[in-house]
Amino acid sequence: MANVMEKEKETKATEAKPAKNTKDTKKSSGLHALLGRQVANWAVLHIKIHQHHWYVKGPNFYTLHLKFEELYEEASLTMDQLAERLLSVGGQPVSTTKEIAAAATIKEHEPFASASDMVQCLRDDFSMVIEETGEAMELAEQEGDEGTHDMLLELKTRLEKHVWMLNAYLNE
Ligand SMILES: [Fe+2]
Repeated sequence: MANVMEKEKETKATEAKPAKNTKDTKKSSGLHALLGRQVANWAVLHIKIHQHHWYVKGPNFYTLHLKFEELYEEASLTMDQLAERLLSVGGQPVSTTKEIAAAATIKEHEPFASASDMVQCLRDDFSMVIEETGEAMELAEQEGDEGTHDMLLELKTRLEKHVWMLNAYLNE
């Protein structure tokens, strides 16, 4: 009898796991779309910040060249983190340049007039991503997806610090 009960316990334990995973991966397509847009935006930012890194000119070249390098590396990690979270919750991140171009809301920019122009554009791009991150956080919260919510909160906080620093650089 004890053996039967043990068996039953084991069966229940193994049954509980997939049920939890199924619940975790059942997120709305709305949240998937917002996360997908983030992946696309970080892919575009990765290229765009490289452009700043390569083409920046002027007396602040060394400072900005290095700062942009730090930021494009961060953009790459952020894109990967968001894409893998999206996969974890049952979504499919964009993964081709065509899909990225269609999903991104970060815009290409005309040739930059100056280093300040680049910094301003980046500050504005980050500010837009902060707003979009807030929207995705609200949806994640409504759906009880704490993992995605917390990841986005960390991202939003990090971006707010970057915006503060870029504004300080611009003396704004
Ligand atoms: Fe480089």
